[in-house]
Amino acid sequence: MTLQIKSFDEYKDVYKRSVEDPEGFWAEQASTFTWRRKWDKTLEWNFREPNVKWFAGGKLNITENCLDRHLDTRGGQVAILFEPNRPEAPVQKYTYKELHAAVCKTANALKANGVGKGDRVCFYMPMVPELAIGVLACARIGAVHSVVFAGFSAQALADRIIDAQCKMVICSDYNDRGAKSIPVKEVVDQAMNMGCESVETVLVHKNTGGPADMPDARYKWWHDEVDGQSAICEAEEMDAEDMLFILYTSGSTGKPKGVVHTCGGFMVYTAYSFKNVFQYQDGDIYWCTADIGWITGHSYIVYGPLLAGATTLMFEGVPTYPDAGRFWAVCEKHKVNQFYTAPTAIRALMAQGDKWTEGYDLSSIKVLGSVGEPINEEAWEWYYHRIGKGNAPIVDTWWQTETGGILISGLGGLSPMKPAHAGYPLPGIQPCLVDSNGALLEGNDVEGLLCMKFPWPSMLRTTYGDHERCRQTYFAAFQDMYFTGDGARRDKNGMYRIIGRVDDVINVSGHRMGTAEVENAINEHPKVIESAVVGYPHEIKGQGIYAYVIVSGPVGDEEAFRKEILAVVTKEIGPIAKPDKIQIVSGLPKTRSGKIMRRILRKVASGDTSNLGDVSTLLNPEVVDEIKTGALAD
Ligand code: PRX
Repeated sequence: MTLQIKSFDEYKDVYKRSVEDPEGFWAEQASTFTWRRKWDKTLEWNFREPNVKWFAGGKLNITENCLDRHLDTRGGQVAILFEPNRPEAPVQKYTYKELHAAVCKTANALKANGVGKGDRVCFYMPMVPELAIGVLACARIGAVHSVVFAGFSAQALADRIIDAQCKMVICSDYNDRGAKSIPVKEVVDQAMNMGCESVETVLVHKNTGGPADMPDARYKWWHDEVDGQSAICEAEEMDAEDMLFILYTSGSTGKPKGVVHTCGGFMVYTAYSFKNVFQYQDGDIYWCTADIGWITGHSYIVYGPLLAGATTLMFEGVPTYPDAGRFWAVCEKHKVNQFYTAPTAIRALMAQGDKWTEGYDLSSIKVLGSVGEPINEEAWEWYYHRIGKGNAPIVDTWWQTETGGILISGLGGLSPMKPAHAGYPLPGIQPCLVDSNGALLEGNDVEGLLCMKFPWPSMLRTTYGDHERCRQTYFAAFQDMYFTGDGARRDKNGMYRIIGRVDDVINVSGHRMGTAEVENAINEHPKVIESAVVGYPHEIKGQGIYAYVIVSGPVGDEEAFRKEILAVVTKEIGPIAKPDKIQIVSGLPKTRSGKIMRRILRKVASGDTSNLGDVSTLLNPEVVDEIKTGALAD
């Protein structure tokens, strides 16, 4: 079984060893899994191309490690505990044995529909067990899953389907979310008319059973295809470096990139980090509130917990339905031991008032986790005292879609904690800070750009279909380093505090958003000539989206125009990308070479117009005053 560190002293020893002998360390971790064939070489790497291979030549199937391996020892234990949106609806439980059977049946259905090793399958589904089952079914047969968060628009979905050339799309009919019913399949229907020619089958899971018509012969019902299948499906033999999944994420430029993760390294790292960060013990009930549409759900709802033989709770609903006590009601109901959520959810619940936390027995909680964005001190304190009652340590887990797993975090209850500090690197992780010239910042009490100087097993291997883009984005900024895009501070004790993105990526409610992507969407409005989008501090969302827009001619009713912009963004990307504020301007501050001075726009958006620095070298310094005067307050 995966090594579990038991004290901070042990962590220090293990860490030291993992840096002195990374290959020996990771080979030892990897040997705790089931391999059909042992790897030839633990690690091969260079960050120039980049070329990173872990456990190459090793043969395995990740689902044998998530499922088959547990059947003898814990076949009857609950693997997935499903809490539906409506509190009165029955809880669903899948034991490891049942999950194994469900995955095999679904895998056989995929095969019967012509999906095989290496084919891409897109998921556009709410948080229902069939999403996890479908993802595992792909892994079972060596198909590559590409889960698209079901809040994205038809256009965004189509872009991702086309980029990955998916052969199949799996969706639900509807989604019950809070008091709303969301027509999920309708979005897929629209996407199918946007050039998704690679798609041969659309498999529709009947979730709510609302009215649904099948537009053409490609559409099939999940139950028709899956129910009659055999519950035995031999797992496909995969190389450790074969692709496991693609997950799209926003960067500072252009379209979202398909981050590629591979089978062996992702398996070893997610299991190891899960066991250690959350200090998961046999029999514990673990709950991560993320959506499987994001990396957190991939690594720490599905793979990490199942690899570790855990009981993972999946929640269909939202934190405020039927009321703002729902998270705590679920924790009490299922006696949750590890609870993992995002600062934005904590702040939103905090804003609803303490009364919603009262009257629940939260004594089962042993570890509280935070992920996705910096957690401010106030939210940290509230989480620690109100929810954890001062007894449950907080693990502030820093990582990214590209890192596959948690890289910097406390180990629940073992490591020293400091509000707003992610803390120390996990074993095997070698972070460093550099200045903008790439010079290494040695010692403690320094602030700079966060990089990694050595590979770890679950790091991205490429961006789908465009390796050069991967190199440019992550490996070109600083020689022989992976650049995270984040700024960070190392305090006097060597603990890391993540400050936030230093590129044009903003983090809205824990959702990563490229400003260029939002600008491109806004520019689709026929009256918009140019736009610039920046983030600004937002009390609940962490960052809000502030858009400056240049229009051609009069817009008439400004409110109606703003609504049109929101509609365009919703259509192009989805409601999560809607700007919070839209300021109409006659120009954008630009340098003489035509580059937008975002620094000025960020300052104005944050409400601070006091010291904008020297603007005299701008091409158009006069617009700065206009922008300041027209700045939108809260
Ligand atoms: O800026 C960091 C922030 O989220 C970014 C990664 O976003 P994404 O790929 O969507 O993955 C989110 C879930 C892992 C990072 O570059 N971030 C993530 N976790 C933290 C964080 N910022 C501060 N503290 C964290 N714990």
